[in-house]
Amino acid sequence: MERDAAAAHELIIPLHPHTELRAMRMEDAADLFSVIDRNRQRLHEWLPWAGPDYSIAAARDFLATQIAEMAARQSLTLTIRHKRALCGVIALHRIDETQQSTSIGYWIDEAHEGRGIVTAACRTIVSEGFQRFGLHRIEIRCATWNHRSSAIPRRLGFIEEGILREAQRLHNAWVDLRVFSMLAQDWKPGGNE
Ligand SMILES: CC(C)(COP(=O)(O)OP(=O)(O)OC[C@H]1O[C@@H](n2cnc3c(N)ncnc32)[C@H](O)[C@@H]1OP(=O)(O)O)[C@@H](O)C(=O)NCCC(=O)NCCS
Repeated sequence: MERDAAAAHELIIPLHPHTELRAMRMEDAADLFSVIDRNRQRLHEWLPWAGPDYSIAAARDFLATQIAEMAARQSLTLTIRHKRALCGVIALHRIDETQQSTSIGYWIDEAHEGRGIVTAACRTIVSEGFQRFGLHRIEIRCATWNHRSSAIPRRLGFIEEGILREAQRLHNAWVDLRVFSMLAQDWKPGGNE
């Protein structure tokens, strides 16, 4: 367990010459909070936790939980960094060892949107899920009208399976989620684009 914790803590995966994925550390709290704070309004449109109450204490709690889950191989939560600066997060949430499955969540700073960084990060974390965690199935769920988000699994060759009716509570309403999946045997490590 101690070795897993140390390995998870040190994980750095290069995406491009100036962009990398890096395991979360407690010292990320101020940077994490500052990126969320300046993107609060646009993130909150899709991510219920990013509301007006989101605080530095919430960022610290999130980091502590993710670091513990990473050490226990229950999730893989990585910061996205461009020129060393934290600009987003991508994660395999709640890895289910019995069903060998998980789902992916992601967001990025507005200034770094539209450059293919999240698609590249997603391609990498899917490969990690299948190779490092031996998973069989990886899902991405997006609100039906979150077209920017749905474009990512489509670009990577995920199969659209259908709609989960009223599966998420968002802004005091129940919203439908579009479900995409990739299976280990269908994944091409170089990407499915
Ligand atoms: C959803 C979200 C992460 C998508 O980010 P994004 O920047 O659009 O995604 P990418 O980094 O993959 O960029 C894709 C864009 O870069 C372009 N691009 C440039 N080079 C590219 C490359 N090498 N590969 C892929 N796309 C590339 C694509 O054409 C696309 O542009 P377009 O939107 O004009 O078609 C982002 O909009 C976000 O943070 N939204 C708020 C939070 C959210 O909705 N999270 C998901 C909840 S389910």
